[in-house]
Parts: sequence; C-alpha cells; structure tokens
Amino acid sequence: MALPSRVKIVEVSPRDGLQNEKEFVPTDIKVELINRLTAAGFPNVEAASFVSPKWVPQMADGADVMARIERRPGTIYSVLTPNMKGFEGALAAGADEIVIFGAASEAFSQKNINCSIAESIARFEPVVQAAREAGIRVRGSISCALGCPYQGEVPVESVVDVAQRYLAMQVDEIDVADTIGVGTPKRVREVMAAVTRVVDPARISGHFHDTYGQALANILAALETDISIFHTSVAGLGGCPYAKGATGNVATEDVLYMLRGLDIDTGVDFDAVVDIGQWMSAHLNRKGSSRAGNAIAAKRAA
Ligand code: HMG
Ligand code: MG
Repeated sequence: MALPSRVKIVEVSPRDGLQNEKEFVPTDIKVELINRLTAAGFPNVEAASFVSPKWVPQMADGADVMARIERRPGTIYSVLTPNMKGFEGALAAGADEIVIFGAASEAFSQKNINCSIAESIARFEPVVQAAREAGIRVRGSISCALGCPYQGEVPVESVVDVAQRYLAMQVDEIDVADTIGVGTPKRVREVMAAVTRVVDPARISGHFHDTYGQALANILAALETDISIFHTSVAGLGGCPYAKGATGNVATEDVLYMLRGLDIDTGVDFDAVVDIGQWMSAHLNRKGSSRAGNAIAAKRAA
C-alpha cells in the first residue's frame, strides 16, 4: 500500500508533554523549548493550554509563554481552549489555532472537563464560531478514541459521532487520540477506516500515547489508512492528569527515525530534535523515553 510521501508532525511536548509534570517547569524553560522546536522546523507546535489553573496548574503560565516565544512566520502555535474563557485567553495571546477537546467516552468527558459529551459540544459551539470569526484555525480532539481508563472499550460509533459533530461545526482538523495508549494496529485501522468514511483523511491527525508500546505500530497502521498528520512529543514526554497510568506521547525522535526509514519527509531536523530531547530530559532530571534519541546520544558520546 502506498504511504504518504510527506507527513505533518505536530509537536505537542510544550503542552501534552509538560502538563502532567508534578514540579512546575519554569516559564523560561517552556519558552526555550518552544523556540528550539520552532528552529528545528516543526510546522505546528502545541504551545499551551488556557484551562482552569486549578485543574492543570502546570499550564497556568500559558499567556506568559505565548507572549515570550519567538514566532516564526508560517509556524502554527496551538493552544487548548475548553470554553469561552479559554478562547478569550487564546485570542489575547495571538494563538494561530485553538484546540477544543472532547471525548468519545462519557466517563472521561466528566473526569477531564467536568461535563457530558453533549454539554461539551454545546460549550464548544460558540468557541468555534468565535474562532472562525477571528480567522483562527480550529482543531477538534477526540480523546479515548481507542479505549477509556474508566469505561474500558469505546465503540467506533462514538468516535464517528464526535467527528461528525466537529464536522458540523466546521473545524479544520480532527484528531483521533489514544489517550491511554491501549490501541493496537487492527483497532487503529478499524477506527481510522470508519472516521475517514465521514472526514477527509487530509484533515485527520493521529495522536498516540505509548503506554503499551504500540504507538509506532499504530502510526504505521494509520499511515496505511492515508493519515498524514501525527502528534508527537520529544523524549516521549507526556500524559494527561485525568487519565491515570497513561504514559507519555509517542517520542518524536522515534517517529522521525521511522519516517526517515520509510522515505517520508517531515521538514524537521532530526539531529536538532535529539538535542532538544536530551536537553529537556536533563532539565527534568531523568532519562527520556525515546529509544532512538537515547541511542543516538549514546553513539555521539562513545
Ligand atoms: P469547572 O470547574 O466545571 O468550571 O471546570 P467552571 O466554569 O465552574 O469554573 C471553575 C473555575 O475555573 C472558575 O474559577 C473559573 O473562572 C475557572 P473560580 O471562580 O473558582 O476562581 N475557569 C478557567 N480559568 C482559566 N481558564 C479557563 C477557565 N475555565 C474556567 N478556560 C473546566 C471545567 C473545563 C474549566 C475544567 O474541567 C478544565 O479546565 N479542564 C481542563 C482539563 C485539561 O486540561 N486536561 C488535559 C488536556 S486534555 C488531554 O490531555 C487529552 C489530549 O492530549 C488528547 C488525548 O491524548 O486524548 C488533548
Ligand atoms: Mg494526549
């Protein structure tokens, strides 16, 4: 099967990567991380969240982060917005893209954003409308598309249902997210096949966490169903505070290594990303979980 020749990588470490860190990561470090990622050539960096600081204290400095980063023209800086209050923050911060984040699981919706799926959609509608009026791109994330920490199995129809609601709101991109990393390639194919029946695959992204070591295999399965946008995080940082036990996002270095081997272009400087992963891990005082990143770093040190 023909794979896409080019893939867009959305680097999510400044948001999904850091949101679960217990110790507050200084704003300076967040800003430097985003500036380094920008310089490495990522076309889209998920930079911050405009959520309740009581719910996610690590993201409380989103406005400062956005004010201090050096923007590269053409790079999309995205921020999470659960409601109008979040949107107002995003607008003031000059975000290029907002991310509304719903779920395919009722239980997770309640835990993560304190409302039902239907209530979340009703809350997102004015947010999306305001974003469209302001000329800001919109991405809709579907959490727990491959399984839920509270509900267990998630029917494919629930994922398609949220995707259709997002489509009706005219979001630009939709991400199918394996929040807790339980998916396997067969299920990824089933879910992506169902979603691509209603949404153009060019507008769908795959967001995989690597909890069960399936993320690279899942990305390959998604590539085979024509998906060409993926979310990754340097050094495999990440996790959601409301998805207990879930580990980080798939490591950017590992994905870049695999894509390079598949002759798929990303426009991202792999060596620079290895450096960033090692630098960020040193700052967090632990070894990162990217196998490719650590292997290259060890080879360099030898
Ligand atoms: P709530 O408590 O029901 O909201 O939380 P509320 O409207 O009653 O407000 C409570 C307080 O929060 C009030 O302050 C509001 O002003 C404030 P108080 O009067 O108590 O001082 N507040 C806000 N402050 C700043 N920015 C805002 C905002 N909204 C309200 N936007 C709410 C509902 C949605 C706010 C809350 O549940 C929340 O913030 N949740 C965010 C959770 C989150 O960020 N989770 C992680 C991201 S999702 C994820 O990681 C998954 C993803 O990666 C994909 C995947 O892997 O699946 C995207
Ligand atoms: Mg995530």
